[in-house]
Amino acid sequence: MAEDPRDFEERWREESRQMFDSSEAKKAFQNVFDHSTSKALLKLADRNVVDKVYGTIEAGKESAVFLADTPEGDRILLKIYMAQAGGFRNMKDYLRGDKRFRNVKDDRRSIIYEWTKKEFRNLKKAEKITNVPEPISVEKNILAMEFLGEDFSPYPKLKDVEIENPEEGYKQMLDRIEELWNEASLVHGDLSEYNILVDREGNSYWIDFSQGVHFTHPEAEELLKRDIENVANFFSKQGADIDPRKDWKRIISN
Ligand SMILES: Nc1ncnc2c1ncn2[C@@H]1O[C@H](COP(=O)(O)OP(=O)(O)OP(=O)(O)O)[C@@H](O)[C@H]1O
Ligand SMILES: [Mg+2]
Repeated sequence: MAEDPRDFEERWREESRQMFDSSEAKKAFQNVFDHSTSKALLKLADRNVVDKVYGTIEAGKESAVFLADTPEGDRILLKIYMAQAGGFRNMKDYLRGDKRFRNVKDDRRSIIYEWTKKEFRNLKKAEKITNVPEPISVEKNILAMEFLGEDFSPYPKLKDVEIENPEEGYKQMLDRIEELWNEASLVHGDLSEYNILVDREGNSYWIDFSQGVHFTHPEAEELLKRDIENVANFFSKQGADIDPRKDWKRIISN
């Protein structure tokens, strides 16, 4: 039986009061998200994934990220895709070419939900190969994952970190790109110094896997090339002497 929308309104009014850390946080959420996103958030609360929601730390074109706590008090991050996002045509092509998502329906909402699921599944695969935020749960357009940071601050991005040995840095990234390709059949698709976080010990974590595709995707080899070039550009600006084209060729010809 369909739920009476008034029941939802009432439930949202009551529960959101306790759920959001402040009225600003609630406003930030309500400003960008519709009724069905609020519903998805309540669902995550029902499933004991989310207890408290803080404000947003960053809002991009396609998604906004909110910090939150689990009922156990662990800090997590909610990446929430916006249904009205502009990049939606692009999303469709990325999905359609991926054999895992070939049957996605045509409407905007289905595409956004599949997109969110894709990032979740990419993270699940990637976590076996490399450091990524642990994916926790996905509900409609909301992806819950481990928060990589301290307190309320995410770890710095690679672009803001001092590099001691750029050649070694490049080699480590390349090895992981290659393992992801060979062992997880996956390419990140948007890898760069902006989507790599680095902790105090110097461990790096790859984030933002939404554009990742299966290596049989028609664009997969081009995406692989771009990932390698982005990483190579970054490390060569730091002084590394490297040949990304050769590395790309070697990986795809294996
Ligand atoms: N698990 C995480 N832990 C800590 N910080 C994170 C995490 N995921 C994302 N962030 C922070 O939020 C920012 C935005 O996240 P992300 O890169 O996934 O989205 P985006 O660049 O807006 O991507 P998209 O192109 O998919 O919309 C990151 O640059 C990073 O600072
Ligand atoms: Mg990003």
